[in-house]
Amino acid sequence: MTTPLIEARGLVKRYGTTDALRGASLRLLPGEVLAVTGPSGSGKSTLLHCMAGIVRPDEGEVRYGAERLDQAGENRRSTLRRTDFGVVFQFGQLVGELTALDNVALPLLLAGTSRAAAHKSAGTWLERFGVLGQAGLRPGEMSGGQGQRVALARAMVTAPKAVFADEPTGALDSLAGEQVMTALVHAARESGTSVLLVTHDAQIAAYADREATVRDGVVETEDEPAAEVTR
Ligand SMILES: Nc1ncnc2c1ncn2[C@@H]1O[C@H](COP(=O)(O)OP(=O)(O)OP(=O)(O)O)[C@@H](O)[C@H]1O
Ligand SMILES: [Mg+2]
Repeated sequence: MTTPLIEARGLVKRYGTTDALRGASLRLLPGEVLAVTGPSGSGKSTLLHCMAGIVRPDEGEVRYGAERLDQAGENRRSTLRRTDFGVVFQFGQLVGELTALDNVALPLLLAGTSRAAAHKSAGTWLERFGVLGQAGLRPGEMSGGQGQRVALARAMVTAPKAVFADEPTGALDSLAGEQVMTALVHAARESGTSVLLVTHDAQIAAYADREATVRDGVVETEDEPAAEVTR
């Protein structure tokens, strides 16, 4: 069986008296696009945040290779989010003072890439997600859907091992949503990036290789991985 890229087991996360997760387990396999669906408030975002090393669960394990993300300190987890993971949050997270181009170039600049090379890659990713025309705009000057596409470009620009995208098409109409999913799946295939995608939209989930459903803080169903193809 394929070794997961990231594996969550028995995650429990409480916020005050709310049990956001009550023993959730999920595997993200290398190179796959995994859709996570489920009712509002069921714990999807919390699960994504735990698997991306943004939130530490109260109980349970998150394994990334030989590492335990649930036990890693803030420094290590924030380094991983810069080097190995890309994250698209449900509610905007672009830097307000920077243009779309500079927002997308930022992770590369932080990694030491030259300004010219970073801007070139950033432009390529903006184009792939259909927002090159907005390159010079700041987040406050873009529509919600344009901002989401810029955030996706920023998550992909470093060719990460995994991208975590929380409702990345939530502000898009169905045609734009399909265009963005086509671009995202294509890019993931090309770079071997795993994508964990939270969505309410069955049409969007249909682009994924596998689907898992979350209900009341647990993963209720998770598709079996497809049998490995031998070529
Ligand atoms: N930072 C927080 N502080 C307090 N409660 C929280 C926090 N984050 C999540 N919760 C609670 O945990 C539960 C799960 O929230 P979560 O955001 O994971 O749900 P979700 O499935 O992503 O919902 P939606 O589809 O509406 O985005 C909810 O009851 C929510 O109110
Ligand atoms: Mg959510």
